[in-house]
Amino acid sequence: MSATTSVSTTSATSTGGLQIRQLHPTYACEITGVDLSKPIPEEDFIRVRDALHRYGVVVIPRANLPDDRGHVEFSRRFGEVEKSKWRSPHMRPLPYDEIFDISNLDVKSEIVTESNEKRITAIRGNALWHADGSFNPRRTYVSMLRAVELPPAGTGGETEYADARQAYEDLPEETKARIKDLVVVHSFLHNRQTSNPDSPLFKGRSVFDEPLARHKLVPIHEPSGQLVLYVTSYAHHIEGMPIEEGQQLLRELMAHATQPKYVFRHVWQNNGDAVIWDNTAVLHRATAGAYEGKHRRDMRRTCVMDSSKDAYGLNNPADAKNQRNSS
Ligand code: OGA
Ligand code: MN
Repeated sequence: MSATTSVSTTSATSTGGLQIRQLHPTYACEITGVDLSKPIPEEDFIRVRDALHRYGVVVIPRANLPDDRGHVEFSRRFGEVEKSKWRSPHMRPLPYDEIFDISNLDVKSEIVTESNEKRITAIRGNALWHADGSFNPRRTYVSMLRAVELPPAGTGGETEYADARQAYEDLPEETKARIKDLVVVHSFLHNRQTSNPDSPLFKGRSVFDEPLARHKLVPIHEPSGQLVLYVTSYAHHIEGMPIEEGQQLLRELMAHATQPKYVFRHVWQNNGDAVIWDNTAVLHRATAGAYEGKHRRDMRRTCVMDSSKDAYGLNNPADAKNQRNSS
């Protein structure tokens, strides 16, 4: 389907009790008729996973995951669920190591304000386009984000996605040939410095003094066999190229991949809704909004580790044992 096809022509398909409706001309779908309040049959799970591989983003309205535990258990069906190795003292003490706190709430469950430098810088970092965990030696595959408490409608907090497979596909052939074997060096710090140029937390630090991860610029999305433009805000430079030149190319590719025609904007509707995405096929970012500093947005996420052939990129798998939490 071409990127110019209007969404209204996309089809709804029904498989078993599940309804799949495409949400964007090239990717993203909504699945209804799936109730995650109890474990779902294997054939339904396979339909959800197949949809994830095909569409990259699966929105499940009123998924009704009963609690953190149900969220972790459902996530396990996709593979090895990441456990956070430490919970920052600035975060709420949630009971499961597998649940990442994506809320705007502080350790006392109060709304984070501008004066909370540690949290506000992370929130800003999350508003840059990224794939979860690209800065780690072992990448993240699936993320599942669940809305526990949404801010009032119309106050923002939407999540945006970009179709990194279609973006690759649409590149001119000469660009594809030029970038096909390039290796990108990713750095957690790079995202934080870019999003918070004035923060004392990151000023004066060099990415070369901190962990770096090497991933192909064009890995293969194994389940679909499609190539992906894996360019994220953690991407610091390109191996074997002068830093500036590599950064210029990364900026151009990022601008290409995140053009409006590749973007699907998810407007969260109800508490209990969930979105699953495949970080090896799509990019995403949080968006700012009037709710910030005023209304609670309690979002919780699980991450499943990548097990595909490009999971470890060009990194030493042993280094993944001590890698940092996904972000
Ligand atoms: C995430 C993420 C965006 C959002 O959960 O990994 O980037 O809108 N979330 O909260
Ligand atoms: Mn993220």
